[in-house]
Amino acid sequence: MRASIKTCTAAAVGICAVGAAGAIGFIYSGIFDFRATSPHYPFVTWALHQTYQSSMEQMTENIVVPTDLETPARVAAGAKLYAANCAVCHGAPGVPLSAIGTGIYPEAPSLLKATRKNRPHQVFFVAKYGIKMTGMPAFGKSYGDEDLWALAAFLHKERGVSADDYTALVETKP
Ligand code: HEC
Repeated sequence: MRASIKTCTAAAVGICAVGAAGAIGFIYSGIFDFRATSPHYPFVTWALHQTYQSSMEQMTENIVVPTDLETPARVAAGAKLYAANCAVCHGAPGVPLSAIGTGIYPEAPSLLKATRKNRPHQVFFVAKYGIKMTGMPAFGKSYGDEDLWALAAFLHKERGVSADDYTALVETKP
């Protein structure tokens, strides 16, 4: 019995050592294609995205949304913040996508598409803390919670907004 536990432990250590050596060999080999123009293998895309999704859903579980979130003033303030900080990567209706938004990989999703969910507590949290290894910045380093709630209000209320309504909102006088 003892001998078999020992054999199993030795086998597990051996497998780990081979795995670690393989990973380090890969890192130094130069085989990985770092270019933003060569997409991940589908499995890697899935693994990265699912890891983010699971972590984000767990971390945002207890975020409390302000009860009067979607006031016209907050939505208009959010539109201005979006045009100034987010459209460069995420795009906006009637506005050509910038060189940054065109070249970034992974791509930044079109947040104003009608089919988006944009759950306010999740938009608030992601905008505040950003997403590692994707180019999505942490805006909480520059903006306070009220501004981030304004972005969440805008992105929830105005999903599917037309180009004309978007421009009108961005230009609303405060
Ligand atoms: C420099 C480019 C860049 C800028 C600027 C940027 N984002 Fe992002 N954002 C990204 C990328 C890339 C992703 C996708 C990350 C991924 O693949 O998981 C992303 C993802 C997101 C997500 C998560 C979407 C999802 O489906 O889970 C939200 C919400 C978001 N951004 C909000 C914002 C807001 C709000 C702003 C402006 C305050 C902003 N982003 C500005 C690049 C950017």
